[in-house]
Amino acid sequence: MLNRRVFYLGANPELTHSFFGSRDMNFNKGYEFLFGGFFEQSKPGHDPAVVFKKVLTASNIKMNINSVADDCLLQMNRCWSDDKPVDFFEDGYAIVFRMGLRAIVGGKYVEKYFDDIMSAFSILDRDFSGINLFMPKMPTPSAKRRVMALEKARKAIKNIINERQAEENPEPCSFDYFIENNKDQNGVPDLDQILNDLLGLLFAASTNTALISSWIPVYLSAHPQWMEKALQEQEEIMKKYGEKVTGEAVDEMVVLEAIMQEVLRHRVHSFVWREVAKDLQVKGYTIPAGSISIARLEFLTMDTRTYDNPAAFAPERFLTEGRAKSYVFGSGLHPCQGQKLATYETNIFAAYFLRNFEFAERFEKIPEINKEEFSGSWPVVKPIVRIIRKK
Ligand code: HEM
Repeated sequence: MLNRRVFYLGANPELTHSFFGSRDMNFNKGYEFLFGGFFEQSKPGHDPAVVFKKVLTASNIKMNINSVADDCLLQMNRCWSDDKPVDFFEDGYAIVFRMGLRAIVGGKYVEKYFDDIMSAFSILDRDFSGINLFMPKMPTPSAKRRVMALEKARKAIKNIINERQAEENPEPCSFDYFIENNKDQNGVPDLDQILNDLLGLLFAASTNTALISSWIPVYLSAHPQWMEKALQEQEEIMKKYGEKVTGEAVDEMVVLEAIMQEVLRHRVHSFVWREVAKDLQVKGYTIPAGSISIARLEFLTMDTRTYDNPAAFAPERFLTEGRAKSYVFGSGLHPCQGQKLATYETNIFAAYFLRNFEFAERFEKIPEINKEEFSGSWPVVKPIVRIIRKK
């Protein structure tokens, strides 16, 4: 049944550090295993990280960030115009997913193809279990749904490529990096490779950013002293920059950033994947080449050897002089390339939320994470709450 052996490596900080720093483990092949069966293998010589680096340059992010912020406010106003209970995680997820898509793909295509890409992506991301992982070709109902979702995303991307190529005076758009770096020897865009790279980046970009944006207000509601500090910071920033959240304004949101780091530390729930490139000796055991090795960030971020009192919610650890090192964006050889964009998105979302809305009731207890979920830190019980628009 299984043609791969899978090892959990890194149940403590020391092993987790060595996992992140080891040159004997292959990052791309680890994630190819995770997505195997659905995505095409990358063509020999093609490294998706090259495309990601081009899309995620500081200048590209800057080019898109104001429209990302405008879109966030527009969608919040649309979703939460009435005083009624909201499914915070579903709405927050959709708003932040859209922000990521806008940053990565570019403006007008988001309007036209958002629904198709979002609905396909949420099936690929969430309708997924161990069976799909180890037996990707088994025609389970969820595998069939995933094949259909992939086809839907494929159609949307094909349309974007065609429209982009038909434009006479195209405005700069990050999507071009996907096209330019995925052409065959005749210069024709390779649709499957573009789809691979785009979905790969959307997987990296969306779920954690969207979920953490939804957790931040929940944590603030349960910790009023930090809500107060975050609101004060927003007051100061609005005096200086006005009501529109811009890139410069976000760069000064140090309290919000510390809160984001601490919420992430508590709520990061991701497996990280590698293929073992050559036999590995760990504590007297040999892990053979070709095996899959997984680790979890929690083993680093919630351990007393990494942080004092790790169970406490203490954003000040990321705020004070000599502040603690953060590991939530990975470490070693493959740290997150999207940290800057993720910080912009979560802070824009939190800033507009704090400025325009408040919870009608407080969260006394933070919902637990659903540990059965493969795709990030969804709550076991969805926090459905009333939020009120500020006068
Ligand atoms: C709160 C949000 C985010 C968190 C917590 C996060 C976390 C991480 C972590 C832990 C890794 C390392 C994975 C590993 O070692 O296997 C990683 C890698 C990566 N992330 Fe993020 N990420 C976030 C948002 C984003 C965003 C918004 C983007 C892009 C738009 C992005 C793009 C990437 C890419 C491309 C890599 C792979 C780096 C490489 O190829 O070496 N991430 N991220």
